[in-house]
Amino acid sequence: MDDIKSYINNLRKKLHHWAFLYYVKNNPEVSDMEFDEAMEELRLLEEKRPDLLTIDSPTQTIGTSFKKYVKKVHHLTPMLSLNSIFNELELIDFDKKIKNLFNTDKILYCCELKFDGIAINLIYKNGSLIQAATRGNGLIGEDITDNVRMIKSIPKYLNTDNIPDMLEIRGEVLMLNNKFTELNQINFQEGKRLFSNPRNAAAGSIRSINSDIISKKYLAFFSYGVGSLESRTISFNSHWQCLQQLILWGIPVHNFRYLSNNIKDILDIYYKACKIRPNLNFNIDGMVIKVDQLKLQKKLGSTIRAPRWAIAYKFQSKEKITDLYDVKFQVGRTGIITPIACFKTIEISGAKIKNASLYNFNEIERLGLMLGDTIIVQRIGDVIPRVISVVLYKRRLNKVKKIILPTHCPLCNSFIEISKNKIAKCTGGIICIAQKKESIKHFVSYQGMNIQGIGSKIIDKLVDNNLIHFPSDLFKLNHKILCQIDNIGPILSRKIILSIEKSKSTTLDKFLYALGIREVGLTTAMNLAKTYGTLENIINADLDSLNNVKDVGEKTAVYIYKFFKNESNIRFIEECLHSSIGLQIHAPL
Ligand code: IVH
Repeated sequence: MDDIKSYINNLRKKLHHWAFLYYVKNNPEVSDMEFDEAMEELRLLEEKRPDLLTIDSPTQTIGTSFKKYVKKVHHLTPMLSLNSIFNELELIDFDKKIKNLFNTDKILYCCELKFDGIAINLIYKNGSLIQAATRGNGLIGEDITDNVRMIKSIPKYLNTDNIPDMLEIRGEVLMLNNKFTELNQINFQEGKRLFSNPRNAAAGSIRSINSDIISKKYLAFFSYGVGSLESRTISFNSHWQCLQQLILWGIPVHNFRYLSNNIKDILDIYYKACKIRPNLNFNIDGMVIKVDQLKLQKKLGSTIRAPRWAIAYKFQSKEKITDLYDVKFQVGRTGIITPIACFKTIEISGAKIKNASLYNFNEIERLGLMLGDTIIVQRIGDVIPRVISVVLYKRRLNKVKKIILPTHCPLCNSFIEISKNKIAKCTGGIICIAQKKESIKHFVSYQGMNIQGIGSKIIDKLVDNNLIHFPSDLFKLNHKILCQIDNIGPILSRKIILSIEKSKSTTLDKFLYALGIREVGLTTAMNLAKTYGTLENIINADLDSLNNVKDVGEKTAVYIYKFFKNESNIRFIEECLHSSIGLQIHAPL
């Protein structure tokens, strides 16, 4: 076998494997960028060596197969994919080829967002939604009608006149980014698997039997065209006209759509899409440029995989590949130990990133992460960095090492307890310097006692120099102590002292939050303050009563109850209220 043949075969195997993980398992092993690049490489090789092209090559097939137990349905017309381009030159080339073919320099294009969700096909018979399906392999998809009927924005019946006998609508289901974060937070708290991105979450939800996610408006839908249409009253000349009619029928179509016959303007529209991208509550991964006239679309036709009349101009990926060189274990305020991935610095959406939280020990296992691995990092919602997967095919066994989970706290050497759902906790309590520092930082925070001027670095120094040990020691600070710390001069020292004095008049919810009771965030602190009115009532509350407070679950009730049964916590509170400090706690605002 010649070299190129075996290279192509390997590339095909890799792409098939990735497609299987992506489409079937909803658990991609590589970034979209890597997938697209490999697909493009294969396409170019096949173009050079058409003798090596096979009908089952990933460039010729669309999706892959699907879970056997899901009911399969045929689409009325195949659901194709799109060819991708990544730069201006390729766009100019796309335009040139079409203009040359038609021997004109006036081709009208319709520009739309490329939604990064799950493609679905909707069939309306005499105006009623009778079937919804995933793309599947492009010809046959999975029946998801029951779930789709629950998506509020997808009409069960078409509006107004011109109801066609049969209409096949194409569009994309997306999970909203804020809902995705919410869902992962819930899954994390319940020790369930986390979704790597909103698209996978949408794919999981749309096939799921748990209707909660769908009915609770986690999902959005936008249509971008029609598959087939049988009507005696209506036909379209252009894609634009088709979108306008979809809107009249009550089908959601995104407002971002532009017509232009000028490639410079199209580039401006592309930059407009790049600009609005961070402000959208769903992911887009590019802009789609479509020849508008349907007659011309027909003449251009399609390959087995994608139409020749449309192109996806992809954005620079928000994912980057890098190398993991260490995992550090960070001890939080409550002693919970969070593994932090340390990797070679990368830049995503303009920010330099070198660390990402791995959340808990389960996450290391779920990712199958090893030191020395090549990893894919993404910014969730364009902000929080997250390791999404390991690039397994790049793993060299002699170069990776198992990540050893610590048995003792890296800071105070106390024993680490690991819960059933793999949450690790340092048992050192207040003797642990990390917990000490974190609880003081939490105490002074804006939402807590709001002591301005004392930041993280000053607290580290005060604790490291044994000048303070507990949050209550903050109230004992004076100019003499503060001025022992480098970088604190008389002006800053005065500001801090004033701020400490000011913080002595606070509200019950802020004080409760500042105490740093496990699971007691701002909302729970407010609910407790409103329910009990005074600190004394909360200290004396029994478990049953705590359990009945709005949003307080069984676990949190136990944490609150135990906190106030702990002698040193009570001593701390008494000290704060004692005349020498004189903390005044008022009702919440
Ligand atoms: S047109 C035959 N328009 O991208 C034309 N597709 O990578 C095919 N997609 O399977 C689709 N936004 O699910 C079109 N505005 C848009 C789109 C879009 C997202 C998806 C679509 C397709 C995939 C191809």
